[in-house]
Amino acid sequence: VCLGNICRSPAAEAVFKQKIKDRNLENVFAVDSEGTGGWHVGNLPDRRMRETALARGIELTSRSRQIEENDLYQFDHILVMDKDNLTAVKSLLKDESNSVNSKIKLILSYSKNSQFDEVPDPYYGGQKGFDKVLDLLNEAIDGLIESLID
Ligand code: 4NP
Repeated sequence: VCLGNICRSPAAEAVFKQKIKDRNLENVFAVDSEGTGGWHVGNLPDRRMRETALARGIELTSRSRQIEENDLYQFDHILVMDKDNLTAVKSLLKDESNSVNSKIKLILSYSKNSQFDEVPDPYYGGQKGFDKVLDLLNEAIDGLIESLID
């Protein structure tokens, strides 16, 4: 989950899918991505994010959707890009004591050697930001998959 579901989270979805495909685990996981905001609903990912991913052999094809409370019950792990997303997603839960709370985490909490705890929003920045998104996600998703198949 990110803010617009056109940069960071569609990239995370595609990186995850690529990695499970490489390990022949495609049928073991269901993965999806969404945004906390609805401005880009129905759109393909941002062209800059698509081009940066494609340069690494990863195609981004998902369409932006906005997250709703009900979505939180459909998945075992809800991984967010930054602390604003964390607050926004948790605020969808009507009951604060809800056990769903504990499955909502920063995706970089799975990263082994990142000094970052958030994936910075690349939308208003330059090319470096989009490369950084993929570098950070690559590390974190390796850790995530390891923890899931452990
Ligand atoms: P994302 O990036 O959350 O990684 O998809 C953004 C996309 C759009 C906007 C902000 C962040 N926006 O303000 O429209």
